[in-house]
Amino acid sequence: MDTFHTWWTTIDNRAEQRFRVEFGRFSLEGTLVIKTHDLTKKYGDLFAIHSIDLDLEEGDLFGFIGPNGAGKTTTMRIIATLLNPTWGEAYVCGNSIYTRAKEIRRLVGYMPDFFGVYDDMKVIEYLEFFAAAYRIRGPKRQQICNDKLEIVDLDFKRDAYANTLSRGQTQRLGLARVLLHDPQVLLLDEPLSGLDPRARIEMRNLLRRLGQMGKTIIVSSHILPELADICNKIGIIDRGVMTVNAEVSAVLKQVRERTVLHVRVTSDLKHASQLLNNHKLVDEVELFQDRIEVTLAAGIEDYGDIPIALVEAWHRLQQIYEEEVNLESAFMALTKGTDTRTQGEKGERLEPEE
Ligand SMILES: Nc1ncnc2c1ncn2[C@@H]1O[C@H](COP(=O)(O)OP(=O)(O)OP(=O)(O)O)[C@@H](O)[C@H]1O
Ligand SMILES: [Mg+2]
Repeated sequence: MDTFHTWWTTIDNRAEQRFRVEFGRFSLEGTLVIKTHDLTKKYGDLFAIHSIDLDLEEGDLFGFIGPNGAGKTTTMRIIATLLNPTWGEAYVCGNSIYTRAKEIRRLVGYMPDFFGVYDDMKVIEYLEFFAAAYRIRGPKRQQICNDKLEIVDLDFKRDAYANTLSRGQTQRLGLARVLLHDPQVLLLDEPLSGLDPRARIEMRNLLRRLGQMGKTIIVSSHILPELADICNKIGIIDRGVMTVNAEVSAVLKQVRERTVLHVRVTSDLKHASQLLNNHKLVDEVELFQDRIEVTLAAGIEDYGDIPIALVEAWHRLQQIYEEEVNLESAFMALTKGTDTRTQGEKGERLEPEE
């Protein structure tokens, strides 16, 4: 029995190792859904993308941020097997783009940034047409099309002509289309562009729901904040180079080495700023017309002594709050080394008196 057990365990281990080697060449656990390594595309002398490394797992919602021409579409099209890289590797669930493109196409739903709809087709006909292309047959087809319309909240336009839909509705129809074959991976190229604020919120909620369903999603955008709160990972790409590629929380931590407080008092603001300037927890003070911005010393997170010091000096404390790091400014800091703090509040800066 023992011998059998040892023999079986060895076979089992070998099989597992083989699985790891074949299906997760770069993944020790074999759990990566998308893996790229040194992925590069050149057009003549231009690097459209240069050495892109990506590791995405099941349920990851990856925000791919970059300005025009950064290389977002190029990267997505390569992963979708619609474009060959100049060199480098890309795998979807362990399938190489070079040898198993067919398998990848089954696993991936790619929504391009622009797509046309046919003039003389109703919404439901449009979906059924694509479902047929995915070889979804019989009564199942209608059921699946209806389900997807419901997921994207477009069932009320079921019998409308596709070319009469608004931009936001067209985007949702596009998303329904890529969901038809129930792909494990979604590559969505700027699905939020051109949407009004309400449609944007609805689309973001939809993306969040799809992430919760366990799909691995890459979603591109020019604008960081619109993705920051729905994505768990972000990549920032500029001129083909990915300058940031990390968990959103790690990015925040990286840009936020010190806590900044906004302090408002209804008593003498200048006096309060001098007081805080001399406080042991404080590194730096900036005085504005209506508030004091206090940068705490490195590593200080507990700042309970600050309001106490103000109140003990008979200041009337109106408001004290920790400044949020906004991902837009994080983006600026990470790419250009500028200020990392929220830029919402503007005001003339006054020099504190010594
Ligand atoms: N077929 C092509 N021939 C030559 N250059 C190309 C081609 N396709 C893309 N490029 C170049 O590759 C770079 C990356 O383009 P890409 O479309 O991937 O950028 P993007 O990040 O998607 O930009 P956008 O936000 O404008 O959609 C750009 O400089 C672009 O001009
Ligand atoms: Mg693009």
